[in-house]
Amino acid sequence: MCGIVGYIGNKPAVPILLEGLKRLEYRGYDSAGIALLENGGLTVRKKIGKVSHLEKEIGAPRASVIGIGHTRWATHGVPSDINAHPHTDCKNEIALIHNGIIENYGAIRTKLEKDGHVFKSTTDTEALVHLIEEMKKYSGDLETAVRLALRQVEGTYGIAVISSADPEKILAARKGSPLIVGIGDNENYLASDAAAIVDHTRKVVYLEDGEIAILSKDSVETKTIDNKMTTKQIEQVTFDLAQIEKGGFSHFMLKEIMEQPETLRNSMRGRVLREEGNVKLSGLNEVKPLLENAQRIIIAACGTSWHAGLVGEYMLEHYGKIPVETEYASEFRYRNPIVKPSDVVFLISQSGETADTLAALKEAKQKNATVLGICNVVGSTIARESQGGVYIHAGPEIGVASTKAFTSQLIVLALITLMIARQRGMSEGEGRNICTQLLEIPGKVEMILQRAAEIENIAEEFKSNSNFLYLGRGYNFPVALEGALKLKEISYIHAEGYPAAEMKHGPIALIDKNMPVVVIAPRDRTYEKIISNIEEVKARHGKVIAVVNEKDSHIASLADHLIEVPQTVDFLSPILTVIPLQLLAYYIAVKRGCNVDQPRNLAKSVTVE
Ligand code: G6P
Repeated sequence: MCGIVGYIGNKPAVPILLEGLKRLEYRGYDSAGIALLENGGLTVRKKIGKVSHLEKEIGAPRASVIGIGHTRWATHGVPSDINAHPHTDCKNEIALIHNGIIENYGAIRTKLEKDGHVFKSTTDTEALVHLIEEMKKYSGDLETAVRLALRQVEGTYGIAVISSADPEKILAARKGSPLIVGIGDNENYLASDAAAIVDHTRKVVYLEDGEIAILSKDSVETKTIDNKMTTKQIEQVTFDLAQIEKGGFSHFMLKEIMEQPETLRNSMRGRVLREEGNVKLSGLNEVKPLLENAQRIIIAACGTSWHAGLVGEYMLEHYGKIPVETEYASEFRYRNPIVKPSDVVFLISQSGETADTLAALKEAKQKNATVLGICNVVGSTIARESQGGVYIHAGPEIGVASTKAFTSQLIVLALITLMIARQRGMSEGEGRNICTQLLEIPGKVEMILQRAAEIENIAEEFKSNSNFLYLGRGYNFPVALEGALKLKEISYIHAEGYPAAEMKHGPIALIDKNMPVVVIAPRDRTYEKIISNIEEVKARHGKVIAVVNEKDSHIASLADHLIEVPQTVDFLSPILTVIPLQLLAYYIAVKRGCNVDQPRNLAKSVTVE
């Protein structure tokens, strides 16, 4: 949420900043802006809308070799040119970009306005740049002023600051919002995540909460905000550029849907020990005894990751025979949950930066539970703050609506389930059978993807509907939630996911000939029951789109449309049944002319609470 990029070196900064911002656009796209140091002064350009609008605004090439750039997801203040970052002080000397929320900005602003500061925007961020200006009156130098200002700020921030009075530096600081420094040769970079700078350098330093970095073109110094030097390790970013490009697809979302056979293989690579009927998850080695003795597992996550967590709960309770609770991370923190030291808390997060999930992690840690991460982004905050965990290895996910991360989260949850189940008495034979089924999943996903054209035809028929209902039972109830979420997110059609049997307790009132009902009905232990639910929909003239296993003549005789998926063991079926729902949402959104990769109001990485 909000993307930050910075450059200091010998090359023109503008192309580097713009290219970085385009790669960070998935973090927010309400407005974009840059600040440059040039000709002894500060130049700021900012524009509502996409980075391409900013690019036009900047126009002719500029020679500046120091600059910072920002792409915004609005929290305080509507998207507008004025509210776009960077924000500047009264003298137009200091420019600041910010990701996060300054919670006490109101009090700071009131005081500074009394002292004569003139504000231009309605953002929380502008209070911080004026506060730095004010502190500079006492400290004289920018770095001390930034440190003094940050000590008065409540809330979260990842910031970058430049000043025409201190033209050889970029200052950066973080608390709660991610920032990395990229180390170059006679040049240095700053970014919210590695995607923005990976084609310039792969050497990065992750800033910690409460740390400040001072970048010049040939050095990077890090300190705490109390002015104590810190020592940082330089880490290597491994993903390659092709992974963050569209590669011939019209949208990242479609590319990411189509990549799933490969990403699922990557999630399992080297981890499935078929002969032993078990798995190897190195990131859990140290906590294996804790998992064996855990009294309870709590899963906390948001959005799509929460849906994966819910499937995980069903898997772990069934095979691992351990009580599991799946919590919305945002609720978990604020309801003072009972968490015991014998509990294991899994945090699931694609980005590893979601503020609510991070807050849940801290809550659980404070209560002495074992905290483990299931993340995609290597080196992300949740991954680093956890005591152990499992990377899902789905590769960078750029489309705002999560697809390949979801299926990889499910695979990893299945691997964890198998590990815990084997610890708790599952036989080697049963373990081996599950390993075989797991290894067959990518090939089965491939078979579903080959049917994309059929799903596109269904999308054509329903693209103008205003409401959808998604029904599933057992392992496929969370898939109904996920299918509905996908459609809402990218096509702006109202959709609800329900446990199929609950339909009778409300949603059935909505069903008429205009209501498409997507029913997820593979041949599992709830199959007979869900057929009755389909009958109930048909009796009220609803249109049924059924996701079924191959050769299901019974449902074929009832449903208006069938989408076939191969059969697998019950607990892995969500990995298959969700694929048609991703494609259905994708095609409907494209046919409605929606911006699939950057849906309105959403952001990929939600780093504010
Ligand atoms: C946002 C994204 C969703 C994602 C959710 C949780 O809402 O748009 O796609 O599921 O955040 O993100 P995380 O990175 O923690 O999985």
